[in-house]
Amino acid sequence: MANPNPVIKYTQLFINNQFIDAESKKKFSTINPSTGKIIIDIAEGDKADVNKAVAAAKAAFTRGAPWRVLNASGRGLLINKLADLMERDAEHLANLEALDNGKTYVSALGDIEASVGCLRYHAGWCDKIHGNTIPTDDGNLAITRKEPIGVVGQIISWNYPILMLVWKWGPALATGCTIVLKPAEQTPLTALYMAALAKEAGFPPGVVNVIPGYGPTAGAAISDHPDIRKIAFTGSTEIGHLIMGAAAKSNLKRVTLELSGKSPVVVFDDANVKEAAAIAHQAVFGNQGQSCCSGSRTFVQAKIYDEFVKLSKELALNRKVGDPFDKTVVQGPQVDQEMFDKIIGLIKSGKDEGAIVEAGGERQGTVGFFIKPTVFSNVKDQMRIAKEEIFGPVQSIFKFNTIEEIIERANNTTYGLAAGVITNDINKALQFCESIEAGSVWVNCYDAITPQTPFGGYKKSGIGRELGEDGLDAYLETKTISIKMPRLK
Ligand code: NAI
Ligand code: MG
Repeated sequence: MANPNPVIKYTQLFINNQFIDAESKKKFSTINPSTGKIIIDIAEGDKADVNKAVAAAKAAFTRGAPWRVLNASGRGLLINKLADLMERDAEHLANLEALDNGKTYVSALGDIEASVGCLRYHAGWCDKIHGNTIPTDDGNLAITRKEPIGVVGQIISWNYPILMLVWKWGPALATGCTIVLKPAEQTPLTALYMAALAKEAGFPPGVVNVIPGYGPTAGAAISDHPDIRKIAFTGSTEIGHLIMGAAAKSNLKRVTLELSGKSPVVVFDDANVKEAAAIAHQAVFGNQGQSCCSGSRTFVQAKIYDEFVKLSKELALNRKVGDPFDKTVVQGPQVDQEMFDKIIGLIKSGKDEGAIVEAGGERQGTVGFFIKPTVFSNVKDQMRIAKEEIFGPVQSIFKFNTIEEIIERANNTTYGLAAGVITNDINKALQFCESIEAGSVWVNCYDAITPQTPFGGYKKSGIGRELGEDGLDAYLETKTISIKMPRLK
Protein backbone atom coordinates (compact mmCIF):
# COMPACT_ATOMS: atom_id res chain seq x y z
CA MET A 1 0.00 0.00 0.00
CA ALA A 2 1.08 3.54 -0.68
CA ASN A 3 2.62 5.02 2.47
CA PRO A 4 4.41 8.37 2.44
CA ASN A 5 6.18 7.54 5.73
CA PRO A 6 7.93 4.20 5.12
CA VAL A 7 10.37 2.93 7.74
CA ILE A 8 13.92 3.70 6.59
CA LYS A 9 16.16 0.93 7.90
CA TYR A 10 19.41 1.49 6.01
CA THR A 11 21.38 4.74 5.94
CA GLN A 12 25.00 3.55 6.04
CA LEU A 13 27.50 2.43 3.42
CA PHE A 14 27.30 -1.24 2.44
CA ILE A 15 30.73 -2.90 2.23
CA ASN A 16 31.53 -6.63 2.47
CA ASN A 17 27.91 -7.42 3.44
CA GLN A 18 27.95 -4.98 6.34
CA PHE A 19 26.36 -1.59 6.89
CA ILE A 20 29.02 0.79 8.23
CA ASP A 21 29.64 4.51 8.70
CA ALA A 22 31.90 6.47 6.38
CA GLU A 23 35.55 6.64 7.51
CA SER A 24 35.16 10.42 7.73
CA LYS A 25 31.88 9.99 9.70
CA LYS A 26 30.39 12.52 7.30
CA LYS A 27 26.73 12.45 6.31
CA PHE A 28 24.56 14.16 3.72
CA SER A 29 20.82 14.75 3.64
CA THR A 30 18.45 13.28 1.15
CA ILE A 31 15.54 15.59 0.36
CA ASN A 32 11.84 14.95 -0.25
CA PRO A 33 11.13 16.70 -3.58
CA SER A 34 7.44 17.08 -2.74
CA THR A 35 8.27 19.33 0.23
CA GLY A 36 11.91 20.36 -0.16
CA LYS A 37 12.48 19.06 3.40
CA ILE A 38 15.10 16.58 4.66
CA ILE A 39 13.98 12.94 4.73
CA ILE A 40 17.00 11.53 6.57
CA ASP A 41 20.80 11.74 6.73
CA ILE A 42 22.89 9.18 4.88
CA ALA A 43 26.54 8.16 5.37
CA GLU A 44 28.65 10.05 2.82
CA GLY A 45 31.29 7.87 1.21
CA ASP A 46 34.44 9.24 -0.40
CA LYS A 47 37.80 7.97 -1.57
CA ALA A 48 38.72 6.09 1.61
CA ASP A 49 35.43 4.21 1.56
CA VAL A 50 35.65 3.47 -2.16
CA ASN A 51 39.10 2.01 -1.54
CA LYS A 52 37.66 -0.25 1.15
CA ALA A 53 34.79 -1.34 -1.07
CA VAL A 54 37.12 -2.07 -3.99
CA ALA A 55 39.34 -4.15 -1.71
CA ALA A 56 36.30 -6.17 -0.63
CA ALA A 57 35.14 -6.60 -4.23
CA LYS A 58 38.65 -7.63 -5.26
CA ALA A 59 38.86 -10.21 -2.47
CA ALA A 60 35.47 -11.60 -3.49
CA PHE A 61 36.83 -12.01 -7.02
CA THR A 62 40.03 -13.87 -6.09
CA ARG A 63 40.48 -17.44 -7.26
CA GLY A 64 38.96 -19.87 -4.78
CA ALA A 65 36.63 -17.30 -3.17
CA PRO A 66 33.02 -18.53 -2.75
CA TRP A 67 31.74 -16.37 -5.63
CA ARG A 68 34.41 -17.73 -7.99
CA VAL A 69 33.75 -21.37 -7.18
CA LEU A 70 29.99 -21.03 -7.43
CA ASN A 71 28.89 -22.49 -10.76
CA ALA A 72 26.89 -20.57 -13.32
CA SER A 73 23.56 -22.13 -12.37
CA GLY A 74 24.26 -21.17 -8.78
CA ARG A 75 24.67 -17.54 -9.82
CA GLY A 76 21.34 -17.75 -11.65
CA LEU A 77 19.63 -19.07 -8.53
CA LEU A 78 20.98 -16.20 -6.43
CA ILE A 79 19.84 -13.59 -8.96
CA ASN A 80 16.38 -15.17 -9.08
CA LYS A 81 16.30 -15.16 -5.28
CA LEU A 82 17.05 -11.43 -5.30
CA ALA A 83 14.14 -10.99 -7.75
CA ASP A 84 11.88 -12.98 -5.39
CA LEU A 85 12.83 -10.72 -2.48
CA MET A 86 12.12 -7.62 -4.58
CA GLU A 87 8.67 -9.01 -5.33
CA ARG A 88 8.10 -9.69 -1.63
CA ASP A 89 9.07 -6.12 -0.69
CA ALA A 90 7.79 -4.36 -3.83
CA GLU A 91 5.42 -2.04 -1.97
CA HIS A 92 8.07 -0.97 0.52
CA LEU A 93 10.59 -0.36 -2.26
CA ALA A 94 7.98 1.66 -4.19
CA ASN A 95 7.28 3.81 -1.14
CA LEU A 96 11.00 4.54 -0.62
CA GLU A 97 11.41 5.33 -4.33
CA ALA A 98 8.40 7.66 -4.50
CA LEU A 99 9.50 9.45 -1.32
CA ASP A 100 13.11 9.96 -2.43
CA ASN A 101 12.60 10.64 -6.15
CA GLY A 102 9.11 12.18 -6.32
CA LYS A 103 7.83 9.77 -8.93
CA THR A 104 4.34 8.41 -8.26
CA TYR A 105 3.94 5.33 -6.12
CA VAL A 106 2.10 3.68 -9.01
CA SER A 107 4.93 4.31 -11.47
CA ALA A 108 7.52 3.24 -8.88
CA LEU A 109 5.70 -0.08 -8.59
CA GLY A 110 5.91 -0.33 -12.39
CA ASP A 111 9.67 0.29 -12.22
CA ILE A 112 10.01 -2.51 -9.68
CA GLU A 113 8.05 -4.92 -11.83
CA ALA A 114 10.36 -4.05 -14.74
CA SER A 115 13.39 -4.52 -12.47
CA VAL A 116 12.25 -7.97 -11.39
CA GLY A 117 11.87 -8.91 -15.07
CA CYS A 118 15.34 -7.56 -15.80
CA LEU A 119 16.91 -9.64 -13.01
CA ARG A 120 15.11 -12.80 -14.13
CA TYR A 121 16.24 -12.22 -17.72
CA HIS A 122 19.86 -12.01 -16.57
CA ALA A 123 19.47 -14.97 -14.22
CA GLY A 124 18.55 -16.99 -17.31
CA TRP A 125 21.78 -16.00 -19.06
CA CYS A 126 24.18 -17.27 -16.39
CA ASP A 127 24.61 -20.81 -17.72
CA LYS A 128 24.30 -19.80 -21.38
CA ILE A 129 27.37 -17.59 -21.64
CA HIS A 130 30.06 -19.48 -23.50
CA GLY A 131 32.75 -19.19 -26.14
CA ASN A 132 33.45 -20.99 -29.41
CA THR A 133 35.59 -23.73 -30.93
CA ILE A 134 37.34 -22.17 -33.92
CA PRO A 135 38.88 -23.91 -36.93
CA THR A 136 42.31 -22.33 -37.42
CA ASP A 137 44.89 -22.22 -40.22
CA ASP A 138 47.64 -23.55 -37.96
CA GLY A 139 45.78 -26.75 -37.10
CA ASN A 140 45.72 -26.02 -33.38
CA LEU A 141 42.60 -26.56 -31.34
CA ALA A 142 41.43 -23.01 -30.64
CA ILE A 143 38.72 -22.27 -28.12
CA THR A 144 37.45 -19.05 -26.63
CA ARG A 145 36.30 -18.57 -23.08
CA LYS A 146 34.11 -15.70 -21.89
CA GLU A 147 35.43 -14.62 -18.52
CA PRO A 148 34.12 -12.01 -16.06
CA ILE A 149 36.09 -8.79 -16.29
CA GLY A 150 36.55 -8.49 -12.50
CA VAL A 151 35.67 -5.61 -10.19
CA VAL A 152 33.27 -3.19 -11.87
CA GLY A 153 32.37 0.36 -10.85
CA GLN A 154 28.83 1.52 -11.46
CA ILE A 155 27.71 5.14 -11.15
CA ILE A 156 24.03 5.79 -11.68
CA SER A 157 21.49 8.58 -11.95
CA TRP A 158 18.44 9.47 -9.88
CA ASN A 159 15.68 9.28 -12.52
CA TYR A 160 15.13 5.51 -12.28
CA PRO A 161 17.11 4.64 -9.14
CA ILE A 162 16.10 0.97 -8.79
CA LEU A 163 15.80 0.22 -12.48
CA MET A 164 19.24 1.69 -13.30
CA LEU A 165 20.75 -0.30 -10.45
CA VAL A 166 19.23 -3.51 -11.77
CA TRP A 167 20.31 -2.75 -15.36
CA LYS A 168 23.84 -2.65 -13.96
CA TRP A 169 23.72 -5.44 -11.39
CA GLY A 170 21.96 -7.90 -13.73
CA PRO A 171 24.74 -8.35 -16.31
CA ALA A 172 27.54 -7.88 -13.74
CA LEU A 173 26.20 -10.68 -11.54
CA ALA A 174 25.23 -12.92 -14.46
CA THR A 175 28.78 -12.81 -15.80
CA GLY A 176 30.37 -13.29 -12.37
CA CYS A 177 31.84 -9.83 -11.74
CA THR A 178 31.90 -8.05 -8.39
CA ILE A 179 30.42 -4.61 -7.88
CA VAL A 180 31.04 -1.19 -6.33
CA LEU A 181 27.99 0.94 -7.03
CA LYS A 182 27.42 4.60 -6.26
CA PRO A 183 23.78 5.69 -6.34
CA ALA A 184 22.94 9.30 -7.15
CA GLU A 185 23.16 11.63 -4.17
CA GLN A 186 19.49 12.60 -4.70
CA THR A 187 18.20 9.04 -4.34
CA PRO A 188 20.25 6.72 -2.10
CA LEU A 189 17.41 5.00 -0.22
CA THR A 190 16.41 2.14 -2.52
CA ALA A 191 20.00 1.23 -3.44
CA LEU A 192 20.76 0.63 0.25
CA TYR A 193 17.62 -1.44 0.64
CA MET A 194 18.62 -3.47 -2.43
CA ALA A 195 22.01 -4.06 -0.80
CA ALA A 196 20.26 -5.58 2.21
CA LEU A 197 18.19 -7.79 -0.11
CA ALA A 198 21.36 -8.95 -1.91
CA LYS A 199 22.79 -10.05 1.42
CA GLU A 200 19.56 -11.80 2.35
CA ALA A 201 19.52 -13.54 -1.04
CA GLY A 202 22.88 -15.05 -0.17
CA PHE A 203 25.44 -13.22 -2.28
CA PRO A 204 28.82 -13.73 -0.59
CA PRO A 205 30.49 -10.75 1.15
CA GLY A 206 32.16 -8.29 -1.23
CA VAL A 207 30.19 -9.27 -4.34
CA VAL A 208 27.93 -6.23 -4.00
CA ASN A 209 29.05 -2.98 -2.37
CA VAL A 210 27.09 0.28 -2.29
CA ILE A 211 28.72 3.65 -1.54
CA PRO A 212 26.34 6.63 -1.42
CA GLY A 213 28.06 9.99 -1.86
CA TYR A 214 28.77 12.80 -4.28
CA GLY A 215 30.13 12.64 -7.82
CA PRO A 216 33.38 14.62 -7.55
CA THR A 217 34.42 12.62 -4.44
CA ALA A 218 33.00 9.08 -4.35
CA GLY A 219 32.20 9.00 -8.08
CA ALA A 220 35.64 10.25 -9.12
CA ALA A 221 37.33 7.77 -6.75
CA ILE A 222 35.54 4.97 -8.63
CA SER A 223 36.43 6.23 -12.10
CA ASP A 224 40.08 6.80 -11.06
CA HIS A 225 40.56 3.48 -9.25
CA PRO A 226 43.33 1.27 -10.68
CA ASP A 227 41.70 -1.98 -9.45
CA ILE A 228 38.37 -1.32 -11.14
CA ARG A 229 38.44 -2.97 -14.55
CA LYS A 230 35.26 -1.58 -16.03
CA ILE A 231 32.96 1.33 -15.35
CA ALA A 232 29.29 1.61 -16.27
CA PHE A 233 27.79 5.09 -16.02
CA THR A 234 24.34 6.58 -16.47
CA GLY A 235 24.04 10.36 -16.33
CA SER A 236 24.90 13.56 -18.17
CA THR A 237 27.11 13.78 -21.25
CA GLU A 238 29.22 16.33 -19.37
CA ILE A 239 30.15 13.82 -16.67
CA GLY A 240 30.47 11.06 -19.30
CA HIS A 241 33.43 13.02 -20.71
CA LEU A 242 35.03 13.17 -17.25
CA ILE A 243 34.54 9.45 -16.60
CA MET A 244 36.09 8.49 -19.91
CA GLY A 245 38.99 10.84 -19.25
CA ALA A 246 39.56 9.35 -15.80
CA ALA A 247 39.45 5.82 -17.25
CA ALA A 248 42.01 6.83 -19.88
CA LYS A 249 44.34 8.37 -17.28
CA SER A 250 44.13 5.61 -14.68
CA ASN A 251 44.18 2.05 -16.06
CA LEU A 252 42.27 2.06 -19.37
CA LYS A 253 39.30 0.54 -17.62
CA ARG A 254 36.50 -0.37 -20.03
CA VAL A 255 33.81 2.26 -20.22
CA THR A 256 30.13 2.10 -21.07
CA LEU A 257 28.19 5.34 -20.97
CA GLU A 258 24.45 5.92 -21.11
CA LEU A 259 24.08 9.67 -21.46
CA SER A 260 21.78 12.51 -22.48
CA GLY A 261 19.42 12.74 -25.43
CA LYS A 262 17.18 15.03 -27.46
CA SER A 263 15.07 12.38 -29.08
CA PRO A 264 12.64 13.16 -31.92
CA VAL A 265 9.09 11.88 -32.25
CA VAL A 266 8.00 12.31 -35.88
CA VAL A 267 4.28 12.27 -36.74
CA PHE A 268 3.28 11.93 -40.40
CA ASP A 269 -0.05 13.30 -41.60
CA ASP A 270 -1.54 9.90 -42.41
CA ALA A 271 -1.52 8.95 -38.70
CA ASN A 272 -4.54 8.92 -36.42
CA VAL A 273 -3.94 12.32 -34.84
CA LYS A 274 -5.52 11.50 -31.50
CA GLU A 275 -3.50 8.32 -31.03
CA ALA A 276 -0.34 10.08 -32.19
CA ALA A 277 -0.85 12.95 -29.75
CA ALA A 278 -1.31 10.46 -26.90
CA ILE A 279 1.90 8.56 -27.79
CA ALA A 280 3.90 11.79 -28.14
CA HIS A 281 2.48 13.13 -24.85
CA GLN A 282 3.51 10.05 -22.90
CA ALA A 283 6.89 10.00 -24.68
CA VAL A 284 7.83 13.37 -23.23
CA PHE A 285 5.86 13.68 -19.97
CA GLY A 286 6.45 10.19 -18.54
CA ASN A 287 8.59 10.17 -15.37
CA GLN A 288 8.18 13.98 -15.07
CA GLY A 289 10.13 14.30 -18.32
CA GLN A 290 13.20 12.94 -16.54
CA SER A 291 14.14 10.22 -19.02
CA CYS A 292 17.28 9.92 -21.06
CA CYS A 293 15.17 8.84 -24.04
CA SER A 294 12.41 11.41 -23.47
CA GLY A 295 10.77 12.30 -26.79
CA SER A 296 11.46 15.97 -26.25
CA ARG A 297 11.20 17.11 -29.89
CA THR A 298 7.77 16.47 -31.38
CA PHE A 299 7.81 17.01 -35.17
CA VAL A 300 4.38 17.12 -36.82
CA GLN A 301 3.62 17.24 -40.54
CA ALA A 302 2.04 20.55 -41.62
CA LYS A 303 -1.43 19.31 -42.59
CA ILE A 304 -2.27 18.02 -39.09
CA TYR A 305 -0.12 20.48 -37.09
CA ASP A 306 -2.88 22.73 -35.71
CA GLU A 307 -5.13 19.86 -34.67
CA PHE A 308 -2.18 18.04 -33.09
CA VAL A 309 -1.20 21.12 -31.07
CA LYS A 310 -4.78 21.52 -29.82
CA LEU A 311 -4.96 17.89 -28.69
CA SER A 312 -1.53 18.06 -27.05
CA LYS A 313 -2.57 21.17 -25.15
CA GLU A 314 -5.69 19.40 -23.84
CA LEU A 315 -3.67 16.39 -22.75
CA ALA A 316 -1.22 18.61 -20.87
CA LEU A 317 -3.97 20.64 -19.19
CA ASN A 318 -5.68 17.42 -18.06
CA ARG A 319 -2.50 15.88 -16.66
CA LYS A 320 -2.90 15.70 -12.89
CA VAL A 321 0.14 16.95 -11.01
CA GLY A 322 0.59 16.59 -7.25
CA ASP A 323 1.23 14.24 -4.34
CA PRO A 324 3.05 11.15 -5.67
CA PHE A 325 1.23 8.98 -3.13
CA ASP A 326 -2.21 9.99 -4.48
CA LYS A 327 -3.26 7.26 -6.90
CA THR A 328 -5.09 9.70 -9.20
CA VAL A 329 -1.93 11.77 -9.74
CA VAL A 330 0.27 10.98 -12.75
CA GLN A 331 3.01 13.61 -12.33
CA GLY A 332 5.00 14.31 -9.19
CA PRO A 333 7.68 16.93 -8.51
CA GLN A 334 11.04 17.24 -10.28
CA VAL A 335 13.84 15.59 -8.34
CA ASP A 336 15.57 18.61 -6.80
CA GLN A 337 16.02 22.37 -6.73
CA GLU A 338 18.86 22.25 -9.27
CA MET A 339 16.80 20.39 -11.89
CA PHE A 340 13.76 22.56 -11.11
CA ASP A 341 15.80 25.74 -11.69
CA LYS A 342 17.31 24.37 -14.91
CA ILE A 343 13.87 23.54 -16.33
CA ILE A 344 12.29 26.85 -15.30
CA GLY A 345 15.28 28.62 -16.92
CA LEU A 346 14.82 26.74 -20.18
CA ILE A 347 11.06 27.43 -20.18
CA LYS A 348 11.89 31.13 -19.84
CA SER A 349 14.32 30.92 -22.74
CA GLY A 350 11.60 29.34 -24.90
CA LYS A 351 9.27 32.24 -24.14
CA ASP A 352 12.03 34.81 -24.74
CA GLU A 353 12.96 33.24 -28.07
CA GLY A 354 9.39 33.40 -29.38
CA ALA A 355 7.90 29.94 -28.87
CA ILE A 356 4.20 30.02 -27.97
CA VAL A 357 3.12 28.64 -24.57
CA GLU A 358 0.04 26.49 -25.18
CA ALA A 359 -0.09 25.05 -21.63
CA GLY A 360 1.79 25.41 -18.35
CA GLY A 361 4.97 27.44 -18.54
CA GLU A 362 5.40 27.91 -14.79
CA ARG A 363 5.77 26.15 -11.46
CA GLN A 364 2.80 24.62 -9.70
CA GLY A 365 2.13 25.77 -6.14
CA THR A 366 4.75 27.25 -3.86
CA VAL A 367 6.06 24.17 -2.05
CA GLY A 368 8.25 21.42 -3.56
CA PHE A 369 9.58 21.19 -7.10
CA PHE A 370 6.36 20.86 -9.12
CA ILE A 371 6.20 22.18 -12.68
CA LYS A 372 3.02 22.42 -14.77
CA PRO A 373 3.00 20.24 -17.88
CA THR A 374 4.22 22.68 -20.51
CA VAL A 375 3.56 22.65 -24.25
CA PHE A 376 5.31 24.99 -26.67
CA SER A 377 4.19 25.39 -30.28
CA ASN A 378 5.95 27.36 -33.00
CA VAL A 379 9.31 25.99 -31.89
CA LYS A 380 12.27 26.65 -34.22
CA ASP A 381 15.34 24.42 -34.52
CA GLN A 382 17.81 27.07 -33.34
CA MET A 383 16.03 27.79 -30.03
CA ARG A 384 17.64 26.52 -26.81
CA ILE A 385 14.56 24.39 -26.00
CA ALA A 386 15.08 22.66 -29.38
CA LYS A 387 18.74 21.89 -28.76
CA GLU A 388 19.37 21.36 -25.04
CA GLU A 389 18.23 18.44 -22.95
CA ILE A 390 15.52 19.89 -20.68
CA PHE A 391 14.87 16.77 -18.57
CA GLY A 392 11.49 18.09 -17.50
CA PRO A 393 7.78 18.16 -18.41
CA VAL A 394 8.20 20.35 -21.47
CA GLN A 395 6.98 19.41 -24.96
CA SER A 396 8.27 21.34 -27.98
CA ILE A 397 6.17 20.95 -31.12
CA PHE A 398 7.75 21.70 -34.51
CA LYS A 399 6.21 21.73 -38.01
CA PHE A 400 7.67 19.88 -41.02
CA ASN A 401 6.76 19.21 -44.64
CA THR A 402 8.73 16.38 -46.26
CA ILE A 403 10.43 13.16 -45.13
CA GLU A 404 13.79 14.30 -46.52
CA GLU A 405 13.56 17.50 -44.51
CA ILE A 406 12.54 15.78 -41.31
CA ILE A 407 15.29 13.16 -41.40
CA GLU A 408 17.86 15.89 -41.69
CA ARG A 409 16.35 17.98 -38.90
CA ALA A 410 15.81 14.99 -36.61
CA ASN A 411 19.47 13.99 -37.04
CA ASN A 412 20.73 17.53 -36.58
CA THR A 413 21.73 17.03 -32.96
CA THR A 414 24.84 15.87 -31.14
CA TYR A 415 22.71 13.19 -29.45
CA GLY A 416 21.31 9.91 -30.78
CA LEU A 417 19.66 7.85 -28.08
CA ALA A 418 16.15 7.14 -29.36
CA ALA A 419 13.55 8.16 -31.93
CA GLY A 420 9.88 7.56 -32.59
CA VAL A 421 7.92 7.60 -35.83
CA ILE A 422 4.15 7.50 -36.12
CA THR A 423 2.66 6.62 -39.50
CA ASN A 424 0.53 4.00 -41.25
CA ASP A 425 2.77 4.09 -44.31
CA ILE A 426 5.25 1.22 -44.03
CA ASN A 427 7.61 2.76 -46.56
CA LYS A 428 7.90 6.00 -44.60
CA ALA A 429 8.41 4.05 -41.39
CA LEU A 430 11.17 1.95 -42.93
CA GLN A 431 12.87 4.94 -44.57
CA PHE A 432 12.85 6.65 -41.18
CA CYS A 433 14.22 3.58 -39.36
CA GLU A 434 17.05 3.29 -41.86
CA SER A 435 18.04 6.95 -41.89
CA ILE A 436 17.74 8.02 -38.29
CA GLU A 437 20.89 8.06 -36.15
CA ALA A 438 19.63 6.59 -32.90
CA GLY A 439 20.21 3.50 -30.78
CA SER A 440 16.50 2.69 -30.47
CA VAL A 441 13.77 3.46 -33.02
CA TRP A 442 10.15 2.97 -32.06
CA VAL A 443 7.46 2.69 -34.73
CA ASN A 444 3.90 3.57 -33.68
CA CYS A 445 4.95 3.25 -30.04
CA TYR A 446 7.52 4.78 -27.71
CA ASP A 447 9.74 3.68 -24.81
CA ALA A 448 9.51 0.04 -25.88
CA ILE A 449 12.42 -0.94 -23.65
CA THR A 450 12.70 -4.57 -22.59
CA PRO A 451 15.45 -6.61 -20.91
CA GLN A 452 15.78 -8.66 -24.11
CA THR A 453 16.63 -5.72 -26.40
CA PRO A 454 19.90 -3.74 -26.42
CA PHE A 455 19.67 -0.08 -25.42
CA GLY A 456 22.20 2.72 -25.83
CA GLY A 457 23.22 5.74 -27.81
CA TYR A 458 24.75 6.91 -31.05
CA LYS A 459 27.00 9.99 -30.98
CA LYS A 460 27.15 11.86 -27.66
CA SER A 461 24.33 9.80 -26.15
CA GLY A 462 26.80 7.16 -25.13
CA ILE A 463 29.12 4.25 -25.73
CA GLY A 464 28.17 0.60 -25.66
CA ARG A 465 24.84 -1.08 -25.06
CA GLU A 466 23.00 -2.24 -21.98
CA LEU A 467 20.47 -5.11 -21.84
CA GLY A 468 20.08 -7.98 -24.27
CA GLU A 469 22.98 -10.19 -25.26
CA ASP A 470 24.99 -7.10 -26.26
CA GLY A 471 24.78 -5.83 -22.69
CA LEU A 472 26.70 -8.83 -21.35
CA ASP A 473 29.72 -8.16 -23.56
CA ALA A 474 30.71 -5.11 -21.56
CA TYR A 475 31.26 -7.32 -18.52
CA LEU A 476 33.25 -10.04 -20.26
CA GLU A 477 36.76 -10.58 -21.52
CA THR A 478 37.39 -13.08 -24.30
CA LYS A 479 40.28 -15.46 -23.77
CA THR A 480 41.61 -17.44 -26.74
CA ILE A 481 43.25 -20.74 -25.87
CA SER A 482 45.24 -22.52 -28.62
CA ILE A 483 46.27 -26.12 -28.03
CA LYS A 484 48.74 -27.95 -30.22
CA MET A 485 46.98 -30.98 -31.64
CA PRO A 486 48.98 -34.24 -31.48
CA ARG A 487 47.95 -35.79 -34.80
CA LEU A 488 47.99 -39.49 -35.57
CA LYS A 489 50.40 -40.12 -38.45
P1 NAI B 1 25.27 13.91 -13.39
O1 NAI B 1 25.79 13.34 -14.65
O2 NAI B 1 26.03 15.01 -12.74
O3 NAI B 1 25.08 12.75 -12.29
C1 NAI B 1 24.89 11.39 -12.57
C2 NAI B 1 25.73 10.55 -11.61
O4 NAI B 1 27.11 10.88 -11.81
C3 NAI B 1 25.46 10.79 -10.13
O5 NAI B 1 25.60 9.58 -9.43
C4 NAI B 1 26.57 11.75 -9.74
O6 NAI B 1 26.88 11.73 -8.37
C5 NAI B 1 27.72 11.21 -10.58
N1 NAI B 1 28.81 12.18 -10.82
C6 NAI B 1 28.73 13.53 -10.89
N2 NAI B 1 29.95 14.06 -11.08
C7 NAI B 1 30.82 13.03 -11.16
C8 NAI B 1 32.24 12.94 -11.35
N3 NAI B 1 33.00 14.02 -11.49
N4 NAI B 1 32.80 11.71 -11.37
C9 NAI B 1 32.05 10.60 -11.23
N5 NAI B 1 30.72 10.63 -11.03
C10 NAI B 1 30.11 11.83 -11.00
O7 NAI B 1 23.78 14.38 -13.69
P2 NAI B 1 22.88 15.41 -12.84
O8 NAI B 1 23.73 16.53 -12.33
O9 NAI B 1 22.10 14.63 -11.88
O10 NAI B 1 21.92 15.94 -14.00
C11 NAI B 1 22.38 16.89 -14.95
C12 NAI B 1 21.72 16.65 -16.27
O11 NAI B 1 22.16 15.41 -16.80
C13 NAI B 1 20.20 16.48 -16.22
O12 NAI B 1 19.53 17.71 -16.23
C14 NAI B 1 19.96 15.69 -17.47
O13 NAI B 1 19.95 16.58 -18.57
C15 NAI B 1 21.17 14.78 -17.56
N6 NAI B 1 20.91 13.45 -16.99
C16 NAI B 1 20.77 12.38 -17.84
C17 NAI B 1 20.46 11.13 -17.33
C18 NAI B 1 20.26 9.93 -18.19
O14 NAI B 1 19.40 9.11 -17.90
N7 NAI B 1 21.06 9.72 -19.21
C19 NAI B 1 20.27 10.91 -15.89
C20 NAI B 1 20.52 12.07 -15.08
C21 NAI B 1 20.80 13.28 -15.65
MG1 MG C 1 25.70 16.97 -11.93
